[in-house]
Amino acid sequence: MAEVNLDKIFASFLLSLDDIEDISELPNIEKEYLGKGSLLSEERSKLATLSNEDKKKYGSLLKEFADNVSTKLDNFKTEFEEAFFIEKEKSENPDISIDWYSKKGSKKHILTNVMEEVVEIFASLGYTVAHGPEAETSWHNFDALNTPDWHPARYESDTLYLDKDLNNLLRTQTSTVQVRHMQDNPPPVYIVAPGRVYRSDQLDATHSPVFHQIEGLAVDDGITFSDLKGTLEYFVKEFFGSTVQTKFIPHFFPFTEPSAEVLVSWKDGEWLEILGCGMVDPNVFKNVKYPESTQGFAFGVGVERLAMLRYGIDHIKNFYENDLRFLDQF
Ligand code: DAH
Repeated sequence: MAEVNLDKIFASFLLSLDDIEDISELPNIEKEYLGKGSLLSEERSKLATLSNEDKKKYGSLLKEFADNVSTKLDNFKTEFEEAFFIEKEKSENPDISIDWYSKKGSKKHILTNVMEEVVEIFASLGYTVAHGPEAETSWHNFDALNTPDWHPARYESDTLYLDKDLNNLLRTQTSTVQVRHMQDNPPPVYIVAPGRVYRSDQLDATHSPVFHQIEGLAVDDGITFSDLKGTLEYFVKEFFGSTVQTKFIPHFFPFTEPSAEVLVSWKDGEWLEILGCGMVDPNVFKNVKYPESTQGFAFGVGVERLAMLRYGIDHIKNFYENDLRFLDQF
Protein backbone atom coordinates (compact mmCIF):
# COMPACT_ATOMS: atom_id res chain seq x y z
CA MET A 1 0.00 0.00 0.00
CA ALA A 2 1.56 3.29 -1.18
CA GLU A 3 0.81 5.43 1.84
CA VAL A 4 2.18 8.97 2.14
CA ASN A 5 3.40 10.12 5.53
CA LEU A 6 0.32 11.99 6.73
CA ASP A 7 2.02 13.13 9.95
CA LYS A 8 4.69 14.94 7.95
CA ILE A 9 2.04 16.60 5.79
CA PHE A 10 0.12 17.66 8.89
CA ALA A 11 3.34 19.11 10.35
CA SER A 12 3.98 21.14 7.20
CA PHE A 13 0.34 22.31 7.31
CA LEU A 14 0.90 23.58 10.89
CA LEU A 15 4.06 25.38 9.79
CA SER A 16 2.23 27.19 7.02
CA LEU A 17 -0.38 28.32 9.57
CA ASP A 18 2.43 29.80 11.65
CA ASP A 19 3.46 31.97 8.71
CA ILE A 20 0.03 33.49 8.17
CA GLU A 21 -0.04 37.26 8.54
CA ASP A 22 -3.47 37.96 7.17
CA ILE A 23 -6.64 35.90 7.46
CA SER A 24 -7.15 36.24 3.68
CA GLU A 25 -4.31 33.72 3.21
CA LEU A 26 -6.35 30.99 4.90
CA PRO A 27 -8.47 29.85 1.90
CA ASN A 28 -5.28 29.19 -0.09
CA ILE A 29 -3.94 26.94 2.63
CA GLU A 30 -7.27 25.17 2.88
CA LYS A 31 -7.19 24.57 -0.87
CA GLU A 32 -3.62 23.33 -0.75
CA TYR A 33 -4.36 20.70 1.91
CA LEU A 34 -8.02 19.80 1.35
CA GLY A 35 -9.00 21.05 -2.11
CA LYS A 36 -8.93 19.67 -5.61
CA GLY A 37 -5.41 18.67 -6.66
CA SER A 38 -4.28 18.42 -3.05
CA LEU A 39 -2.25 15.46 -1.89
CA LEU A 40 -5.29 14.33 0.02
CA SER A 41 -7.49 14.24 -3.05
CA GLU A 42 -4.79 12.42 -4.98
CA GLU A 43 -4.50 9.80 -2.25
CA ARG A 44 -8.27 9.47 -2.08
CA SER A 45 -8.42 8.73 -5.79
CA LYS A 46 -5.96 5.90 -5.25
CA LEU A 47 -8.29 4.21 -2.75
CA ALA A 48 -10.25 2.50 -5.54
CA THR A 49 -7.16 0.54 -6.52
CA LEU A 50 -6.66 -0.92 -3.03
CA SER A 51 -7.93 -4.12 -1.51
CA ASN A 52 -11.04 -3.79 0.58
CA GLU A 53 -9.13 -4.13 3.80
CA ASP A 54 -6.48 -1.56 2.83
CA LYS A 55 -9.14 0.72 1.45
CA LYS A 56 -10.89 0.74 4.80
CA LYS A 57 -7.71 1.26 6.77
CA TYR A 58 -6.15 3.94 4.56
CA GLY A 59 -9.52 5.57 3.97
CA SER A 60 -10.06 6.09 7.65
CA LEU A 61 -6.51 7.51 8.04
CA LEU A 62 -7.19 9.97 5.24
CA LYS A 63 -10.51 10.92 6.81
CA GLU A 64 -8.85 11.50 10.15
CA PHE A 65 -6.25 13.69 8.46
CA ALA A 66 -8.94 15.72 6.66
CA ASP A 67 -10.91 16.16 9.90
CA ASN A 68 -7.83 17.31 11.80
CA VAL A 69 -6.96 19.83 9.11
CA SER A 70 -10.55 21.18 9.06
CA THR A 71 -10.76 21.49 12.84
CA LYS A 72 -7.41 23.20 13.01
CA LEU A 73 -8.45 25.65 10.27
CA ASP A 74 -11.71 26.50 12.08
CA ASN A 75 -9.95 27.04 15.42
CA PHE A 76 -7.26 29.09 13.79
CA LYS A 77 -9.85 31.34 12.18
CA THR A 78 -11.70 31.92 15.47
CA GLU A 79 -8.52 32.64 17.39
CA PHE A 80 -7.17 34.93 14.70
CA GLU A 81 -10.39 36.94 14.64
CA GLU A 82 -10.56 37.20 18.42
CA ALA A 83 -6.99 38.45 18.61
CA PHE A 84 -7.73 40.89 15.80
CA PHE A 85 -10.74 42.38 17.62
CA ILE A 86 -8.93 42.60 20.94
CA GLU A 87 -6.14 44.55 19.24
CA LYS A 88 -8.65 46.74 17.44
CA GLU A 89 -10.55 47.49 20.66
CA LYS A 90 -7.32 48.39 22.39
CA SER A 91 -6.33 50.83 19.71
CA GLU A 92 -9.80 52.38 19.44
CA ASN A 93 -10.54 52.64 23.17
CA PRO A 94 -7.33 53.75 24.76
CA ASP A 95 -7.50 53.92 28.55
CA ILE A 96 -7.45 57.67 29.14
CA SER A 97 -7.35 57.53 32.95
CA ILE A 98 -3.90 58.32 34.19
CA ASP A 99 -2.83 56.11 37.01
CA TRP A 100 -0.66 58.72 38.73
CA TYR A 101 -0.13 57.04 42.02
CA SER A 102 1.07 53.68 40.79
CA LYS A 103 3.51 55.30 38.33
CA LYS A 104 7.04 54.90 39.58
CA GLY A 105 8.60 58.20 40.53
CA SER A 106 5.34 60.15 40.96
CA LYS A 107 4.38 61.69 44.26
CA LYS A 108 1.61 63.60 45.94
CA HIS A 109 1.46 67.39 45.94
CA ILE A 110 2.91 69.06 49.01
CA LEU A 111 -0.52 70.46 50.00
CA THR A 112 -2.07 66.98 49.77
CA ASN A 113 0.71 65.64 51.98
CA VAL A 114 0.25 68.38 54.57
CA MET A 115 -3.52 67.86 54.63
CA GLU A 116 -3.10 64.11 55.02
CA GLU A 117 -0.59 64.61 57.79
CA VAL A 118 -2.89 66.94 59.73
CA VAL A 119 -5.81 64.55 59.25
CA GLU A 120 -3.64 61.66 60.53
CA ILE A 121 -2.75 63.59 63.69
CA PHE A 122 -6.42 64.18 64.46
CA ALA A 123 -7.37 60.65 63.39
CA SER A 124 -4.97 59.39 66.06
CA LEU A 125 -7.16 61.28 68.57
CA GLY A 126 -10.32 59.61 67.25
CA TYR A 127 -11.49 62.23 64.73
CA THR A 128 -13.05 61.16 61.42
CA VAL A 129 -13.08 63.04 58.12
CA ALA A 130 -16.14 64.93 56.85
CA HIS A 131 -16.69 66.73 53.56
CA GLY A 132 -19.06 69.37 52.22
CA PRO A 133 -19.73 71.09 48.88
CA GLU A 134 -17.58 73.97 47.60
CA ALA A 135 -20.62 75.67 46.05
CA GLU A 136 -22.67 76.52 49.13
CA THR A 137 -25.72 78.39 50.31
CA SER A 138 -25.17 81.71 52.09
CA TRP A 139 -27.14 80.18 54.95
CA HIS A 140 -24.57 77.44 55.56
CA ASN A 141 -21.61 79.77 55.03
CA PHE A 142 -22.87 82.74 57.10
CA ASP A 143 -26.34 82.61 58.72
CA ALA A 144 -26.05 79.22 60.39
CA LEU A 145 -22.61 80.25 61.60
CA ASN A 146 -24.10 83.24 63.45
CA THR A 147 -22.64 85.80 61.06
CA PRO A 148 -24.74 88.99 61.14
CA ASP A 149 -26.01 90.61 57.92
CA TRP A 150 -23.67 93.55 58.34
CA HIS A 151 -20.51 91.43 58.72
CA PRO A 152 -17.79 92.58 56.25
CA ALA A 153 -17.06 88.96 55.19
CA ARG A 154 -20.45 89.04 53.45
CA TYR A 155 -19.47 91.93 51.16
CA GLU A 156 -19.27 91.12 47.49
CA SER A 157 -15.75 92.51 47.58
CA ASP A 158 -14.78 89.59 49.86
CA THR A 159 -16.98 86.70 48.77
CA LEU A 160 -17.49 85.12 45.36
CA TYR A 161 -21.28 84.86 44.96
CA LEU A 162 -22.93 82.59 42.43
CA ASP A 163 -26.17 84.55 41.93
CA LYS A 164 -27.46 88.12 41.94
CA ASP A 165 -29.55 87.57 45.08
CA LEU A 166 -26.44 86.49 46.98
CA ASN A 167 -28.08 83.25 48.12
CA ASN A 168 -25.34 80.97 46.80
CA LEU A 169 -21.58 81.31 46.88
CA LEU A 170 -18.25 79.56 46.72
CA ARG A 171 -17.62 78.71 50.37
CA THR A 172 -15.25 81.13 52.05
CA GLN A 173 -14.42 78.72 54.88
CA THR A 174 -14.65 75.02 55.67
CA SER A 175 -16.70 75.95 58.77
CA THR A 176 -19.72 75.17 56.55
CA VAL A 177 -18.95 71.48 57.05
CA GLN A 178 -19.56 71.88 60.81
CA VAL A 179 -23.12 72.97 60.03
CA ARG A 180 -23.81 70.26 57.47
CA HIS A 181 -22.35 67.54 59.67
CA MET A 182 -24.35 68.56 62.74
CA GLN A 183 -27.56 68.79 60.69
CA ASP A 184 -27.08 65.15 59.71
CA ASN A 185 -25.55 63.65 62.86
CA PRO A 186 -26.39 63.82 66.55
CA PRO A 187 -23.63 64.47 69.13
CA PRO A 188 -21.00 63.36 70.00
CA VAL A 189 -19.04 64.73 67.04
CA TYR A 190 -15.29 64.57 66.40
CA ILE A 191 -14.56 65.57 62.81
CA VAL A 192 -11.94 67.24 60.66
CA ALA A 193 -12.89 68.64 57.26
CA PRO A 194 -10.10 69.36 54.79
CA GLY A 195 -11.00 71.25 51.64
CA ARG A 196 -10.74 74.13 49.21
CA VAL A 197 -12.14 77.60 49.95
CA TYR A 198 -12.55 80.76 47.88
CA ARG A 199 -12.23 84.47 48.57
CA SER A 200 -12.29 87.54 46.40
CA ASP A 201 -8.63 88.21 47.19
CA GLN A 202 -5.81 89.46 44.99
CA LEU A 203 -2.84 87.11 44.77
CA ASP A 204 0.04 88.29 46.94
CA ALA A 205 2.76 86.51 48.91
CA THR A 206 0.36 85.12 51.52
CA HIS A 207 -3.11 85.37 49.87
CA SER A 208 -4.71 83.52 47.01
CA PRO A 209 -8.34 83.57 45.79
CA VAL A 210 -8.36 79.78 46.19
CA PHE A 211 -6.69 78.07 49.11
CA HIS A 212 -7.15 75.19 51.56
CA GLN A 213 -8.35 74.88 55.12
CA ILE A 214 -8.88 72.13 57.63
CA GLU A 215 -11.81 72.60 59.93
CA GLY A 216 -12.17 70.76 63.21
CA LEU A 217 -15.21 70.25 65.43
CA ALA A 218 -15.57 68.41 68.72
CA VAL A 219 -18.95 68.22 70.44
CA ASP A 220 -19.39 66.07 73.50
CA ASP A 221 -20.65 66.14 77.10
CA GLY A 222 -18.65 68.52 79.27
CA ILE A 223 -16.16 69.71 76.63
CA THR A 224 -14.34 72.83 77.84
CA PHE A 225 -11.78 75.35 76.66
CA SER A 226 -9.02 73.27 78.30
CA ASP A 227 -9.88 70.38 75.97
CA LEU A 228 -9.54 72.78 73.04
CA LYS A 229 -6.20 74.07 74.32
CA GLY A 230 -4.79 70.61 75.03
CA THR A 231 -5.91 69.26 71.64
CA LEU A 232 -4.44 72.13 69.65
CA GLU A 233 -1.18 72.17 71.62
CA TYR A 234 -0.84 68.46 70.91
CA PHE A 235 -1.48 69.09 67.23
CA VAL A 236 1.11 71.90 67.00
CA LYS A 237 3.80 69.79 68.68
CA GLU A 238 3.06 66.80 66.46
CA PHE A 239 3.19 68.92 63.32
CA PHE A 240 5.98 71.41 64.02
CA GLY A 241 8.02 69.51 66.61
CA SER A 242 8.06 69.32 70.40
CA THR A 243 10.17 72.46 70.96
CA VAL A 244 7.64 74.80 69.34
CA GLN A 245 5.64 76.92 71.83
CA THR A 246 2.01 77.96 71.42
CA LYS A 247 0.20 81.10 72.54
CA PHE A 248 -3.58 81.63 72.60
CA ILE A 249 -4.66 85.24 72.19
CA PRO A 250 -8.25 86.53 72.28
CA HIS A 251 -9.93 87.13 68.94
CA PHE A 252 -13.41 87.42 67.47
CA PHE A 253 -15.20 84.93 65.23
CA PRO A 254 -19.00 85.08 64.88
CA PHE A 255 -19.42 81.32 65.41
CA THR A 256 -17.31 80.84 68.53
CA GLU A 257 -17.46 82.46 71.96
CA PRO A 258 -14.90 82.87 73.40
CA SER A 259 -12.62 82.79 70.35
CA ALA A 260 -8.85 82.75 70.06
CA GLU A 261 -6.02 82.77 67.58
CA VAL A 262 -3.19 80.33 68.07
CA LEU A 263 0.34 81.60 67.50
CA VAL A 264 3.45 79.47 67.30
CA SER A 265 6.96 80.48 68.36
CA TRP A 266 9.23 81.11 65.41
CA LYS A 267 12.84 82.11 64.85
CA ASP A 268 14.16 85.19 66.62
CA GLY A 269 11.37 85.29 69.21
CA GLU A 270 8.74 85.94 66.55
CA TRP A 271 5.17 84.58 66.99
CA LEU A 272 3.15 83.58 63.94
CA GLU A 273 -0.60 82.98 63.71
CA ILE A 274 -1.61 79.57 62.37
CA LEU A 275 -5.26 79.05 63.21
CA GLY A 276 -8.53 80.36 64.62
CA CYS A 277 -10.55 78.53 67.24
CA GLY A 278 -13.06 78.81 70.05
CA MET A 279 -16.00 77.33 71.92
CA VAL A 280 -18.93 76.88 69.54
CA ASP A 281 -21.45 79.71 69.98
CA PRO A 282 -24.81 78.46 71.37
CA ASN A 283 -26.54 80.14 68.40
CA VAL A 284 -24.78 77.74 66.03
CA PHE A 285 -26.09 74.76 68.01
CA LYS A 286 -29.56 76.33 67.92
CA ASN A 287 -29.36 76.71 64.13
CA VAL A 288 -28.58 73.02 63.64
CA LYS A 289 -31.25 72.04 66.17
CA TYR A 290 -28.91 70.65 68.81
CA PRO A 291 -30.07 70.78 72.47
CA GLU A 292 -29.42 74.08 74.24
CA SER A 293 -27.03 72.54 76.75
CA THR A 294 -24.63 71.29 74.00
CA GLN A 295 -20.95 72.19 74.34
CA GLY A 296 -18.08 71.91 71.90
CA PHE A 297 -15.08 73.55 70.32
CA ALA A 298 -14.08 74.31 66.75
CA PHE A 299 -10.99 75.41 64.88
CA GLY A 300 -9.88 76.27 61.35
CA VAL A 301 -6.33 75.95 60.02
CA GLY A 302 -4.92 77.34 56.77
CA VAL A 303 -3.08 74.56 54.97
CA GLU A 304 -0.85 76.80 52.82
CA ARG A 305 0.14 78.70 55.98
CA LEU A 306 1.23 75.48 57.70
CA ALA A 307 3.30 74.42 54.70
CA MET A 308 4.87 77.87 54.23
CA LEU A 309 5.95 78.01 57.86
CA ARG A 310 7.27 74.51 58.06
CA TYR A 311 9.24 74.61 54.81
CA GLY A 312 10.14 78.31 54.69
CA ILE A 313 8.21 78.93 51.45
CA ASP A 314 8.06 82.65 50.72
CA HIS A 315 5.25 82.94 48.15
CA ILE A 316 1.89 81.17 48.06
CA LYS A 317 1.90 81.03 44.24
CA ASN A 318 4.58 78.31 44.42
CA PHE A 319 1.88 75.80 45.40
CA TYR A 320 -0.19 76.34 42.28
CA GLU A 321 2.32 76.86 39.48
CA ASN A 322 3.15 73.15 39.22
CA ASP A 323 6.81 73.84 38.60
CA LEU A 324 8.51 70.50 39.17
CA ARG A 325 11.68 72.24 40.34
CA PHE A 326 9.59 73.40 43.33
CA LEU A 327 7.36 70.34 43.80
CA ASP A 328 10.20 67.82 43.59
CA GLN A 329 11.76 69.24 46.74
CA PHE A 330 9.05 67.82 48.99
N1 DAH B 1 -13.43 79.97 59.46
C1 DAH B 1 -12.36 80.82 59.98
C2 DAH B 1 -11.66 81.52 58.85
O1 DAH B 1 -11.79 81.12 57.73
C3 DAH B 1 -11.37 79.99 60.76
C4 DAH B 1 -11.97 79.49 62.03
C5 DAH B 1 -11.87 80.26 63.16
C6 DAH B 1 -12.65 78.29 62.08
C7 DAH B 1 -12.43 79.87 64.35
C8 DAH B 1 -13.21 77.87 63.27
C9 DAH B 1 -13.10 78.67 64.40
O2 DAH B 1 -13.88 76.73 63.37
O3 DAH B 1 -13.65 78.24 65.54
O4 DAH B 1 -10.98 82.47 59.09
